[in-house]
Amino acid sequence: MTQDSEEPISETASEQPAPEAESDHPNPAIRAVADKDIGSAIAVAGHPIHAMLVHFPIALVICTTGIDVFYWWTGDPFWAAVGLWSASAAFAFGVLAAIVGTAELLAVPGIRVRVASWNHAVAAMVLLAVAGANAGLRLYWPEQILPNGLLLSALAAIATGFAGWHGGKLVFDHGVGLLISTRQ
Ligand code: HEM
Repeated sequence: MTQDSEEPISETASEQPAPEAESDHPNPAIRAVADKDIGSAIAVAGHPIHAMLVHFPIALVICTTGIDVFYWWTGDPFWAAVGLWSASAAFAFGVLAAIVGTAELLAVPGIRVRVASWNHAVAAMVLLAVAGANAGLRLYWPEQILPNGLLLSALAAIATGFAGWHGGKLVFDHGVGLLISTRQ
């Protein structure tokens, strides 16, 4: 009987505040992080160039894994040649994206002070190291594509997942580079 008159218990009432920086956060150190600018500095009309570039290495790394599977399956040297171009382009676009991302990291105080930015940068550097090794293996030791190249491609795909996830966190959890429109 008393159940109907009771206030519904909020599932979130007892939860701690989110760890992300907010300007009304009880911890003054986190408030200081929240108060720093997080707008993109390397941008076209406010749209971050890094976010435009990252699609290329992400797609190419994933495609290289698929290409290697085709090569394994068919044994056709055509796929080995496609894999060389795909892995090399993945690395080249990854370096380009990383240069722009690093410029953003160093130029914007609110990005620089966030631990999440450095987590993303470390994950991206691991990805670039693996992608570079994968491209180099195909160029200098094409006979090792199976199995070593395939394994490097799979590792690069996993590293891309980590780097992309942490990059997405910067935008969707921390609001880095967002333009909040006042228009409807
Ligand atoms: C040291 C290298 C890198 C640094 C310092 C860096 C930094 C950043 C920063 C500051 C952002 C927030 C958006 C912006 O302000 O542009 C971001 C977003 C992102 N980054 Fe990176 N980045 C690096 C390399 C990479 C690489 C190689 C990839 C490719 C996997 C990547 C994938 C992403 C993704 C997917 C986002 C989210 C973009 C969106 O959702 O629109 N980053 N990164």
